[in-house]
Amino acid sequence: MDETVVIYYSRTGVTLTAATQLANMLGCPKAEVADAVPRAGAYGDLRCVVDNLFRRKAGYRYSGPPLANVRDVIVMAPVWMGRLAAPMRTFLEDANTLPRLVAAVTIMARRGGLRAAQDIGDAIGREPFPVLTLVEQDIISGAARAEIKRFADAYLRARPDLSQAHRPAWLSPHEA
Ligand SMILES: Cc1cc2nc3c(=O)[nH]c(=O)nc-3n(C[C@H](O)[C@H](O)[C@H](O)COP(=O)(O)O)c2cc1C
Repeated sequence: MDETVVIYYSRTGVTLTAATQLANMLGCPKAEVADAVPRAGAYGDLRCVVDNLFRRKAGYRYSGPPLANVRDVIVMAPVWMGRLAAPMRTFLEDANTLPRLVAAVTIMARRGGLRAAQDIGDAIGREPFPVLTLVEQDIISGAARAEIKRFADAYLRARPDLSQAHRPAWLSPHEA
């Protein structure tokens, strides 16, 4: 059984960079939620906007360990139009074998990270814990590495408490 799995969706690679760093820090595997139909180019942009504005279900493929074999997961996904990216929202809404313990990391250009984390909570029916929001530019520059390390440490410290507590933990210093 895998203890922890980092489940990520990344259209342009920024979330993937952060997910890889976090998984390496935790020494755990990653799992990918990918688009069933690639969202390349301007038409891909448009599909992102429409899927999120109208809360449409998005086609996806999951590549990773069976969720029934996982003890806890960290969900990582970008913000689209102020909300959680549609493929991850759809995946979480569909998932009926998610472990009870779910943490969340959302990635934004500027704002919407906390709302997207709430979307994760709404999709799974409980508060994710702990929660981190990251800024795209910080991931690209490498400045986010310290925040990701703090999150990894907080996650490891929190794990014994996770089965009891569902208090919100907002670790991001950024306005989100
Ligand atoms: C359609 C669309 C809408 C977006 N809306 C927002 C937004 O509301 N707030 C924000 O901060 N960033 C927004 N972004 C930027 C992404 O969150 C950001 O580029 C992120 O790093 C992309 O992650 P990825 O490379 O893993 O796909 C949007 C991006 C797209 C494509």
